[in-house]
Order: sequence, then C-alpha cells, then structure tokens
Amino acid sequence: MGDMHTTALSPTPLGSPLRAQFPILAQRINGQPLVYLDNAATTQMPLVVLDAMRQFETTARANIHRGVHTLSQRATDVFENARETVKRFVGATQAHELVFTSGTTEALNLVTQGLVHGLDGRTAAIGPGDEIIVSGLEHHANLVPWQQAAKRSGATLRILLPNAHGQLQADDLARLLSQRTRVFALTACANASGERPPFEALLALAHAAGAITVLDAAQAVAHSALHMDTLACDFMAFSAHKMYGPMGMGALVGRRTALELLTPLRLGGDMVQSVNYQGAVFAELPARLEGGTPNVSGAVGMAAAAGFITSIGQHAIESHLADLRQHAVRGLQHIDGVTVLSAQTRMSAVISFVVQGVHPHDIGTLLDARGIAVRSGYHCAQPLLDYLGTGPTTRASLAIYNTHHEVEQLLCGVAHAIGVLR
Ligand SMILES: Cc1ncc(COP(=O)(O)O)c(C=O)c1O
Repeated sequence: MGDMHTTALSPTPLGSPLRAQFPILAQRINGQPLVYLDNAATTQMPLVVLDAMRQFETTARANIHRGVHTLSQRATDVFENARETVKRFVGATQAHELVFTSGTTEALNLVTQGLVHGLDGRTAAIGPGDEIIVSGLEHHANLVPWQQAAKRSGATLRILLPNAHGQLQADDLARLLSQRTRVFALTACANASGERPPFEALLALAHAAGAITVLDAAQAVAHSALHMDTLACDFMAFSAHKMYGPMGMGALVGRRTALELLTPLRLGGDMVQSVNYQGAVFAELPARLEGGTPNVSGAVGMAAAAGFITSIGQHAIESHLADLRQHAVRGLQHIDGVTVLSAQTRMSAVISFVVQGVHPHDIGTLLDARGIAVRSGYHCAQPLLDYLGTGPTTRASLAIYNTHHEVEQLLCGVAHAIGVLR
C-alpha cells in the first residue's frame, strides 16, 4: 500500500527534520519506533520549550507579584513577558486581556460560571429568559459548563446541530439567533470529527445579533493563525499542551469589556486589592481572574511554544498537516468498510474514522502493538458522535513532526487490524 500513497506527494520542510527537537519521539514502543498520532489529546514538547522551563526553574523560580526581592521580581517579569508573548501570538490588542488558566476546560468554566454568578450584588450577565446557543460539535468542556450555566441562571440552552455530514450551517444559526440570545459558543475545530466549521462567519453572525461570542480554540491554535483583532470573538480559550507546550496550562483571552463581566472563579490571594474581615476589593484585570499562585513555569513554556510555532509559521504548518490529512483520508477510504468523518475538511489535524463491525478499542490496541499511538472512544464529545450515529471512533491526530511515512504505517496498521478482527 505504501508507494500508492506517497509518490504523488510533495516534500515538505516539516516532519522528519524537526523530529530531533522532540526527544520523546526517538523511542521504541512495543519494540517498534513510536508513531505518535495522538496529538489532539496532547502534543509533545520541543527542546526550546523544555529549555525555557528549565531555565526558569533553575534561575528565576520564586513566587510572583508579592515579593520585593530580586528573584521574585525576576519571576514576575518572566510571567508578565510570557503573557505579552501569548497575547501577541493570538493577535490580542489593547482592547484585550489574557488570563492564564490550567487549560481550555478551566478557561471555559471561568466564562460560564463567571457569567452566571453575580458577585457582591452585581447582576449576573446571564439570567432567566436569556438563551445560550452552543454548537453541536463541541467537546464536553464547551457543552457541560453551558448546560449547568443554563440550569443555574434559568436561561434556555439551544444547540446548533450539524447536518448529516457533520457540518454547521450559517442559515441554521441565523434561525436560532434572536433578541434573547445572550451567548454563542463554538469550537474552531471539532476534536471528535475533525470538522473545521466556518467559525469566523458564524461568530460574526452571532456578534451582529448582539451575542457574547466564545471560541474554543483548543484544536486550532497549534496550526491556525487566530487573531483576536479580526475575529468577532469576545472570549477565546486554548491549552498549552495541545500547542507543543506544557500540560496543566492554558489561557482565556478576551475583550476587556467582556472579561469585566466575569465573576472570578478562584477567590483568594493575588486577586484582591485590599481585604478586611468584612469584605474585599478585587484587583484589576488580569489579576482579578487569577487567584492563587500561578503556574509560572507553565506560562514560560506556553510562551516558548507560541514562539516555536511562530518561528515555523502557521501557514507552513497548516499546509503540512493538510497534506498529511489528505494522504490519511484517501488511504483510509481505500480500505474496505472504513468511513472517515468530515473527510472533506482541509484545515484540520484530526482524522476520525469508524470501521464496520470492528470496535475502535480493538483497532487502537492492535495499532499500539505496532508502536502507533491513536485514541479510541467518544473523545469527550459523546452527543456529537451519537447524533451522527457513528458511536465511538478511532482518532489519529497530526502534528508538525509527523511524516507521510508515519501515515503509511497507520494505513498498514489499520488494514492489518481489520484483517485480524474481521
Ligand atoms: C476542542 C477541545 N476543547 C476543550 C478541550 C479540553 O482541553 P483541556 O483538557 O486541555 O482543558 C479539548 C481537549 O481535548 C478539546 O479538544
């Protein structure tokens, strides 16, 4: 099967030449060279990120903001510089601010809970009679918090369902939007199907209707240039570990006016200006939304990862991933009984597929025996896969270090697994 797929493909500067920068890839799993295709779950970290974090831990580690001593000031500078770097990375302007979080999940919870709780007598931003529209493509992290937000606030949750091909349509959104719409939340790329919705147009439509717009960029930020200054987006959430950075780190970037609406999720140290036994005056943004000691080394790693992506260029990354995806999709479609979800999508790193009569866990297990790491199951997006009628899928997901040779290994591995399991 190998030559059939590789001959027509143009060489790319990404893939193999970059692999030396990712030491973890140079190992064998079950006696075979590791083929890491679980990047939608977590990408690996290059040396430049590992080095930046090590440098912080060995030369500047101290708690930030509260100390007058040199190391504390150094750590504070490092942390705030990291914030500026990540802000620039996503095109944030003076009108925006960036809050560090533990990941996309925390960032989205900060928005959902922050909009439904009024603190100190303030009216909550979402209340009874309001409507929240969430796309039907979402990871549970951009659905479950909105379900709870609707229940707590008395608002109504509406789902923008995809068509039979898993695509979202602007017309459907236009029909759902009304004067009651308070929020529209959407993914920039569906982690379970790989669908890349026309999020720019959908956000613009919702924004024009007066909704607060929320973009889950977890599956896009590693390869797409996302610019807050051009998107009709009030909040954008993403995770460092899906963009070649550390785990347990992420960000919520938002328009200042939108962030001002949020009640803090974490109350305590560092988010207050003054406190007495009866009450507290909260600090200005972004500190107000960052209670407690932050993950400074995580911020350093995230900024280094942003620099790494920028140095390669999102355009080059997107075209490398699109080539690899097309190679994988075409190859899988040649295998009898395989259906690829969102096969037509281009700007996506996710290839999700089902095989008639074969359980994805069995495919995943047989691929692992060949050193190939993929993910099987619902991918934390059960409503979507149930709605599309596919049930659990096998998901291979790509990153800059993946190669056409690895795609061939995946295709051979899937064909072999099906032969064994049928
Ligand atoms: C689209 C999407 N949103 C949110 C998340 C949650 O990210 P995290 O676990 O880093 O908070 C994921 C993780 O897979 C995701 O793919």
